[in-house]
Amino acid sequence: MCGIVGYIGKADAPSVLINGLRRLEYRGYDSAGVAVLDEGRLVIAKAPGKVAALNERARADWPAERFSKSTMGIAHTRWATHGPPTEVNAHPHLDQSGDVALVHNGIIENYRSLRARMESKGHHFYSETDTEVLAHLIGDCDKGDLFQAVCDALHQVEGTFGIAVLSAREPEKIITARRGSPIVIGVGDGETIIASDAAAILAHTQRVIYLDDNDIAIVTAESIDIRDLNNIPVTREIAELAYDAAAAEKGGFEHFMLKEIHEQPDALSNAIRGRLDFNLGSSVLAGMGTSPRELAELGRVVLVGCGTSLHAGLVGEYAFEDLADIEAEVQQAAEFRYRNPIIGSRDLVVAITQSGETADTLAAVREANQKGAFVMSLCNVVGSTIARETGRGVYLHAGPEISVASTKAFTCQVAVLLMMALKLGRGRRFSREDGRNFAREIESIPALVAKVLLQNERISEIAASYAHNEHAFFIGRGPMYPVALEGALKLKEISYIHAEGYHAAELKHGPIALLVEGTPIIALACDIPGKDKTLGNIEECRARGARILGIVTEGDLEAAECMDDYITIPRCHPLVATVPAVVALQLFSYHVARHRGCEIDQPRNLAKSVTVE
Ligand code: AGP
Repeated sequence: MCGIVGYIGKADAPSVLINGLRRLEYRGYDSAGVAVLDEGRLVIAKAPGKVAALNERARADWPAERFSKSTMGIAHTRWATHGPPTEVNAHPHLDQSGDVALVHNGIIENYRSLRARMESKGHHFYSETDTEVLAHLIGDCDKGDLFQAVCDALHQVEGTFGIAVLSAREPEKIITARRGSPIVIGVGDGETIIASDAAAILAHTQRVIYLDDNDIAIVTAESIDIRDLNNIPVTREIAELAYDAAAAEKGGFEHFMLKEIHEQPDALSNAIRGRLDFNLGSSVLAGMGTSPRELAELGRVVLVGCGTSLHAGLVGEYAFEDLADIEAEVQQAAEFRYRNPIIGSRDLVVAITQSGETADTLAAVREANQKGAFVMSLCNVVGSTIARETGRGVYLHAGPEISVASTKAFTCQVAVLLMMALKLGRGRRFSREDGRNFAREIESIPALVAKVLLQNERISEIAASYAHNEHAFFIGRGPMYPVALEGALKLKEISYIHAEGYHAAELKHGPIALLVEGTPIIALACDIPGKDKTLGNIEECRARGARILGIVTEGDLEAAECMDDYITIPRCHPLVATVPAVVALQLFSYHVARHRGCEIDQPRNLAKSVTVE
């Protein structure tokens, strides 16, 4: 989940590279570095901390009159996997000669044996990283052809990589390659930009090429020559990014997270648009690539994902069982391939992912493919690895999600899962009339969310009175149980309050021992089946001094009276209610974190896309 930027062209490379890193900081930001070629010399600056620190260091270290003269370079913002986030461990790393510089995203799994071999040949290492070993290996393989040296080195590597390499001995070209970590190449006018995420390219062009695993490219300002690691030319199409640089900016909001929370009515409209068939009472999801007969013959739906995407899958589990009368289960992606899952041709495996690059989810896709299942993905990033490896599925169309905390992607995942469940259901026992009614419920989701967003100021006031807490419990039943889990994750990851999500009935099986006077309980007490039981659980908590914040249905005075504070959501179908309910929790978590002065868009220790196991 590190950020990589490479540039070769006509502009001032240091500024282009550092500005590109700024757009990738959400991916990982514990240290950063940049290397440029200036009059044939390799010039490097590295710094622990954020990209701003790197910018200061580069401007301090490099002669002012030379700072903007270079026209090519590579840069990196790091999320540490090997060795602490220090200047020494920051990328770029150099080979033994000091002429070759490398930035890398991924993990070299055999780096210890490679390092030992290099050291036996007299190589000296300065860092604790696997990346420095790869830099030395490339240098050791360099017999006068950098491209061939990189190929020869990568043939010896086990693990994953997305890399950019340049050499003072071969100026005017950058070599880039990938296996398991994304690389996208921006096709500019007299300039070429390499990045681990299209967000760094948008300021220059919307024309991009996505490398596939084991692709390697020779990049100049005017050309992109792509081959495989055996030096066989390959052809990769130029794609047009569906959004521009403005869409990747904050748009006047204090944080990307708040912007993306407020974008949800539009994002959900985009996710739903053209995908509901009110005549048949079904959904139109052409990307699933399956016939009605194939869907009717499925025996089970297995939903895999991580973190917030896993929680979306848990909502989907209820939807598939309720609407499609099909067995559905969620499996944590990191467990999936190691548990030797019992998966076969009658199983539909749905990989749920915002980034399309999460290593554990990608591994689950590959395992499911091995076992002959129907595999598809719900993904937000067009052309991402998981989207391309599954070859079928449904794009979320949520627009770029920059904040590490996922919000609009989650609600769009839920909306798409409801449409998938509707489609499967209509191929089974779900009637046309019921289908039409549910399609109208789905169509209403953007308006339901817009009504919750109108409470933003009130939710901020409520949040201020909870911001001092260090612990919190989120509870819910039925499809609101995954919403409780997601609400707890949101609060945890941006406010650093230790929050736990539980099924409402579970508290009395142990966790209630933790309740003391004033412990906050955030209760999903919407007017759906099971509400009365939840109100009973709330009384059990109140009897022990807990403070209750309820998410209740508009007009449900009985529930509102049980709460110390409450946020209302519009009355709607229980499965649909999960979306406005989670938006209330997103706003609550955001404002608690804001009142606590937390770094909301880039929470400590986190990264937007976890591309390592
Ligand atoms: C979401 O708030 C988290 N940052 C994280 O759990 C995320 O959902 C998870 O890493 C999965 O990412 P993906 O959706 O891109 O696969």
